[in-house]
Amino acid sequence: MRHIMVLNAKGGCGKSTLATNIAAYFANEGANVALADYDPQRSSLDWLERRPDNRPSIAGVAAFEDGLRHVPRTADIVVSDAPARSHGKELTDLVRHAETIVVPVLPSTIDMQATTVFLQELQKVGKVQRKQAKIGAVANRVRDNTLIWDELDEYLTKARVPYIASLREAMNYVRAYTRGLGVHELPEYLAWPDWDDWDPLASWLKSKRSQP
Ligand SMILES: Nc1ncnc2c1ncn2[C@@H]1O[C@H](COP(=O)(O)OP(=O)(O)OP(=O)(O)O)[C@@H](O)[C@H]1O
Ligand SMILES: [Mg+2]
Repeated sequence: MRHIMVLNAKGGCGKSTLATNIAAYFANEGANVALADYDPQRSSLDWLERRPDNRPSIAGVAAFEDGLRHVPRTADIVVSDAPARSHGKELTDLVRHAETIVVPVLPSTIDMQATTVFLQELQKVGKVQRKQAKIGAVANRVRDNTLIWDELDEYLTKARVPYIASLREAMNYVRAYTRGLGVHELPEYLAWPDWDDWDPLASWLKSKRSQP
């Protein structure tokens, strides 16, 4: 069973957006996917409740209540949505269930500073030090031709974790969430720029580079 966790202690950077989209992406690839929500805000589980019956099904797991106990044995992939403000023992416990950690970062000075502190803490977690979990950063809500985007791009290029992809800011993410879909399930004429954005992230997640 493959474990992918979307994690950043900074709130609002796109953890639930990425987790739901990763889950939908792999479900459409034919994988048996479980989506584990560690956040009592339940954003991922709310999304799942909106999911239409005619789309590949995804099993929801209320991990904030009792961890991964109710993940179906048949699951090929578990995608976990972590809560904001995960630090200390809570962070160590969360990472215990992850072999791949996707860290979304917004183009904002506050977010970059918070992510620096978070990555320092994450890299001190024993499992990460032992390279039993691989980390990848994803720029999220990017707008071309803005100074702050250039700063984020430079920040992630120099970061001590691999810089995997950048996802543009798009209403498609809001629309998809509302309908219980991933951007890959929106019509191509609407979502092709987002599909292009996702290619490097999807390839990384499917490759050995993202696995210990
Ligand atoms: N690429 C994007 N384009 C447009 N809107 C986005 C994008 N990514 C996220 N959003 C929006 O930003 C807001 C925060 O995203 P999300 O809830 O996924 O973040 P989060 O990290 O899970 O937040 P929290 O820390 O509260 O759990 C949401 O309204 C979401 O729709
Ligand atoms: Mg969330």
